[in-house]
Amino acid sequence: MVVSSAPGKVYLFGEHAVVYGEPAVPCAIERRARVTVEARDDDSLRVHAEDLSLDGFTVEYSDGSDDDPDVDVSESLVDAAMGYIDAAVEQARDAANAPDAGFDITIESEIPLGAGLGSSAAVTTAGIHAATRELGVELPTEEVAERAYQAELEVQGGDASRADTFCSATGGAVRVEGDDCRAIEAPDLPFVIGFDGGAGDTGRLVAGVRALREEYDFAADTVESIGDVVRYGEQVLAEGDIEELGRLMNFNHGLLEALGVSSRSLDQMVWAARDAGALGSKLTGAGGGGCIVALDPTDSTETALDYTPGCEDAFRAELDTDGVRVEE
Ligand code: PMV
Repeated sequence: MVVSSAPGKVYLFGEHAVVYGEPAVPCAIERRARVTVEARDDDSLRVHAEDLSLDGFTVEYSDGSDDDPDVDVSESLVDAAMGYIDAAVEQARDAANAPDAGFDITIESEIPLGAGLGSSAAVTTAGIHAATRELGVELPTEEVAERAYQAELEVQGGDASRADTFCSATGGAVRVEGDDCRAIEAPDLPFVIGFDGGAGDTGRLVAGVRALREEYDFAADTVESIGDVVRYGEQVLAEGDIEELGRLMNFNHGLLEALGVSSRSLDQMVWAARDAGALGSKLTGAGGGGCIVALDPTDSTETALDYTPGCEDAFRAELDTDGVRVEE
């Protein structure tokens, strides 16, 4: 039996613009998905999933459509995780040259689903890591990242960036520009995350930005401006100036807001964090609902978010320098 875990992530800067070739900086956070894999005597796959992110909480998907029912989070975790686990198992079978390997798999996740924190990438990355080791193969981290990316591509029908899987595999802060992914130096970053209990529809939000960008030159300029914020943000990160980083996060959120990907609950949390003294705050991931990330070395933001209407959960999650790993 092998147990592997991999971290979720926040975008410090650059979501959406990364789709058009601008750089982005995702950062791994100390919230993990754990995948336990045990080889079976036959070729079947049994999966059990537990959501540890919110206790028995019901997620209401807020993508604006009427036909999405409320989804019980443990049920939705199983459904969402199944596709990724299937694809991860295929990658592991391929890597270990064991096409008929069967497994009992248990997934435990502390990462809210579809909320901009990279839950699927963490499950996929940890799944490939654990299943290959259970078959006696130790892949280099870069290969785990590449195989996790291929698995996500397959599940998401060819629409996935390398950001989530690379960041989950390596941990730490990462710079992504097109196919070029690398680790970058970062100081300790005191992240506080606010979760509105919902999830955005990534495909719809990405399509919305694409349409705006095609219709208005100033929307295309806005996307480029996000790229400029990221390029400057990388220098600031290397210098370790977290006050300036906070100001840039605020700027980045304003540009995302202009592109129409924020929401009332995300804006409420962003402003509550700033009012409580956070150095900066922005939405993370596709937007539309889900999570914000604030930079705050004190406890005041977490407490303020706990009392903010529309915030279902607030937690501290420092930068995690550990990527995918075996759990003892
Ligand atoms: O919400 P997430 O964690 O899936 O992030 C989406 C990030 C986008 O830039 C909006 C899309 C992408 O594939 O990079």
